[in-house]
Amino acid sequence: MQKISTLIFSEDLSTSEVLKLLVSEFDNLELLEQTSDFSKIFEILSNITDKSLFIVDLSVKKQEKLDLMLKISQQCPNCKILALSDNPSVDLIIQIMRAGAKEFLTVPILKNEFFDAINKLISQLEEPKKINKCKIISVFSNKGGIGKTSLASNLALELSKITKENVALIDMNFQMGDITTFLDLKPSFNISYMLENIDKINETFLLSTLERYKNSSLYVLADPPYFKQADTIHPKQITKLFNTLKETFSYIIVDAEASFDGKNIAALDNSDMILLVSVANLPTLRNTQRCLELFDKLGYDKEKTKIVINRYMENDEIKEDDIEKVLSKQIYWKIPNNYFAIMSAINKGVPVSIINSSTNVAQSYKDLAQHISDNLYKQNMAKRFENILNNF
Ligand SMILES: Nc1ncnc2c1ncn2[C@@H]1O[C@H](COP(=O)(O)OP(=O)(O)OP(=O)(O)O)[C@@H](O)[C@H]1O
Ligand SMILES: [Mg+2]
Repeated sequence: MQKISTLIFSEDLSTSEVLKLLVSEFDNLELLEQTSDFSKIFEILSNITDKSLFIVDLSVKKQEKLDLMLKISQQCPNCKILALSDNPSVDLIIQIMRAGAKEFLTVPILKNEFFDAINKLISQLEEPKKINKCKIISVFSNKGGIGKTSLASNLALELSKITKENVALIDMNFQMGDITTFLDLKPSFNISYMLENIDKINETFLLSTLERYKNSSLYVLADPPYFKQADTIHPKQITKLFNTLKETFSYIIVDAEASFDGKNIAALDNSDMILLVSVANLPTLRNTQRCLELFDKLGYDKEKTKIVINRYMENDEIKEDDIEKVLSKQIYWKIPNNYFAIMSAINKGVPVSIINSSTNVAQSYKDLAQHISDNLYKQNMAKRFENILNNF
C-alpha cells in the first residue's frame, strides 16, 4: 500500500505532539520531518508527485500560512490540506477554504473529529471526485431595456476577478443579444454551434470554443447570429448545455431574455438564483409583481428569486419601503443610477470598471459579486461545517 506523505506544521508544541500521535494511528499516513521554514515546506510538498497531506495550524502567522496554503493548493494538485485554528470565525473559515483547505478543525483537537477529517481527505485522495459546486445565476426581467445585460456582463466579470474561477456568461437573447457588443467581442462560435456539438463537449472543447474575455477567467457564449438558428433550439437542449457547462465552470451567469419562452424558462428552471431586475416606477413594479406570481406558480422556492432595483436614486418618489410593500419581498440589491458611466462603458464596449472603477455603479457591481460569492462560500461551508458554525 502506498503511504500518504504527511507534513505537520504547528508552532505550538503540544498541538504538534498531539497531531503526531493521532497521525501515527493511521497505517497509510507517513509522517515527514517537521520544519517551520515556509519555503522549505513548499519545496518538500511540491516535490512529492504522489499523494500528500498538509496539516497546518493557523493559530499564529495566519496570513503567511494562508498564502502558503494557496500556493500549495494551486501548484500541488495531489496535496490535500487540513487547516486548524484555536480562534475560528466565519471569516477565517472562508479565507481558509479560499486558500484551498478541504477540511477545518478547531484547536484543541478532538480525536473523533480529527479521524473523520483525515478519513474524508484520504478518500478524496484515493478517488478524486469532482464536487460540482457550480452556481447558475440568471439575470431576468419580464420588461425589456431594464439593465439586464449591463448587470449580467459586469457581474460575471467581477465574479471572475474576485474568485479567479472560471465563469461562463451566456447570452440567451436568441434574436438580439447584446453581450458581444457590451464586451466588444467577435466570437468564432455561438450557442447553436455548442448545442450541435453537445455530445463531443468536454472541458478542453469548452474552454477553447467559448470566447475568453481578454486574460480573465470569464468565458462568453454568444447568441446565434441568425434568427433561424434559434428556432431549432429545444428547451431540453438548454438543460443539457447547462449540465455540461456545470462541470467546467464555477459560475454560469445567464443574460436571460425578457420573455417566458420555453428556452428561457428552461434557463430559469435550471438556475440556483434569479436576479429579478426592476426599477422604481409603478408600471415596472407591477410587471415585477406579476413575474413573482408566475414564479410562484412555477413552484420556485421564494429564496431563489432576488429583487434587484436598477437605476436606484435616493430621492426617487417611490421609496424602498414602498417597493418592498408592493412586491411583498425584500430588496436584495440596489444599483445606482449612473447613465453617464453606463453609456460610456456600453459605447466603448468595455465593463464599467474599466471606464472608472470608483464610480458608484462599478462599485455596486463589484460589491454584489463579492456578496454573492461570500454567501455561496458560507452556504457551502455551512453544509460541511455545520457543527462548528453552529457554535458562533
Ligand atoms: N445603473 C444604470 N444607470 C443608468 N442607466 C442604466 C443603468 N443600467 C442600465 N442603464 C441604461 O439602460 C439601458 C438598457 O440597459 P441594458 O441593455 O443593460 O438592459 P436590458 O434589460 O439588457 O435590455 P434588453 O431588454 O434590450 O436586453 C442602457 O443602455 C443604459 O442606458
Ligand atoms: Mg439585454
